[in-house]
Amino acid sequence: MSLDQQLRKKALDHVNKLGTIVEKDPYYPKYHIAPPVGLLNDPNGWIQWNGTYHLFYQWMPFKTGHGAKFWGHVSSKDLIHWKDEPIALTPGDWFDKDGCYSGSAISFRDELLLYYTGNVKHNNIREAYQCLAVSKDGKHFEKKGVQIEVPKGYTAHFRDPKVWQEDDQFYMVIGAQTEKEEGSVVWFSSRDLMEWRFGGTLASGFGYMWECPDFFTIDGTDILLFSPQGLSASGIHYRNTHQTGYIAGKWDKKANSFTHGQFIELDKGFEFYAPQTTIDNLGRRLLFGWMGVPDQDEQLQPTVKNGWLHQLTVPRELAFRDGQIFQKPVEELKQLRKQQLYQLELEKQSVITRDIPKASELKLEVQTHYDIEIQLFGYLTLSYNAQTQHIRLVRPKLDGSGSEERAAVAKEIKEIRCLIDHSSVEIFINDGEIVFTSRMFANPSINSIDIKAIGKLTVWELAL
Ligand code: FRU
Repeated sequence: MSLDQQLRKKALDHVNKLGTIVEKDPYYPKYHIAPPVGLLNDPNGWIQWNGTYHLFYQWMPFKTGHGAKFWGHVSSKDLIHWKDEPIALTPGDWFDKDGCYSGSAISFRDELLLYYTGNVKHNNIREAYQCLAVSKDGKHFEKKGVQIEVPKGYTAHFRDPKVWQEDDQFYMVIGAQTEKEEGSVVWFSSRDLMEWRFGGTLASGFGYMWECPDFFTIDGTDILLFSPQGLSASGIHYRNTHQTGYIAGKWDKKANSFTHGQFIELDKGFEFYAPQTTIDNLGRRLLFGWMGVPDQDEQLQPTVKNGWLHQLTVPRELAFRDGQIFQKPVEELKQLRKQQLYQLELEKQSVITRDIPKASELKLEVQTHYDIEIQLFGYLTLSYNAQTQHIRLVRPKLDGSGSEERAAVAKEIKEIRCLIDHSSVEIFINDGEIVFTSRMFANPSINSIDIKAIGKLTVWELAL
């Protein structure tokens, strides 16, 4: 058996042995993508190809820790029902032996191409190779080996290629660290996906490493999305261990100059990182994010004892207006609304308590500028102070030492939409102007929400 076959077999044995324990975990999601066993991190290779959505993810099948990553693979026709596909990539070659790290997909001449980073360590010294794997059927991928090596001036923290096409040109952005240990994103271009020309730095300037870059144009604005490491917390900003956000402006490729505004965080919640986008046949810019953050308390999450860790967000559609990205759950997710459980006119500012299923959607439509408080399962509290205009999200710390908080500012609140799935919540405020993405490890026997607001509350049970 080749090393690739051995790794596949070992991974599937793990799934067969431990998969039922994982699925029975009361924290396991019903409509989000989560690992069948082991650890999941970044979404990879996100693409609609021949009418089917394909999504890959960083996967460590053997433990709930990081290591030599595989690419897991799921596919969907409708962005709701996801089918497990054969493992796409295993870390079985010299150029990716310590991990088939993150990357992206592109369609070219009827084939599906995956660009990813081969992570290699020799005596703990890192090497990084940008590699290619190709498939004719969207299921089985043949590795084509190293395509790009690290250019001069950069360390081996050089990874996560995102490839796209504009007219007859192909482009690639890569997350990088300069030899001066500054975070940056570099770019390459190619006419044929064979020869890649190094274009230089697209952006840099803060932090020590920028991971998982993505570049796209939306509603006429160029966006560079990336996950910088090494930003210090400042007031309500940059509170997670590592951040994710974007700079928006105009990239003049000929002059190699990207004129852009300041860095804006994409999500204000506790767990969000390394998102990736693609454009589908309806022209929608669709995003998946990892509902986790590197180096952030992850071994304290209670799912570790049941052999799995982390999940992805729901797919979100992006728009750009008023100088910022808006994110909302894709329209298809409304099909999960199997049953409207109740609709209440909340008139007085007094606490209402109601049962709510562990897979549900809650929508609060607000007409009056007033304080709001929503507590989910006695665990996580979202509140709005109409006077200070602060929105706060508070939950207990995983190590039991008090609580932690994330915050944002909103002049007014018109709508709050929460997608709840067992141990996670995605909170979309004002049509996705502000988003909080968070895990939520409430006591599984608590089934209620407490809400204090003036407005209309609608709750649906969600089911596949
Ligand atoms: C981001 C990241 C990427 C890397 C991958 C490894 O979470 O660190 O930079 O390719 O995860 O799993």
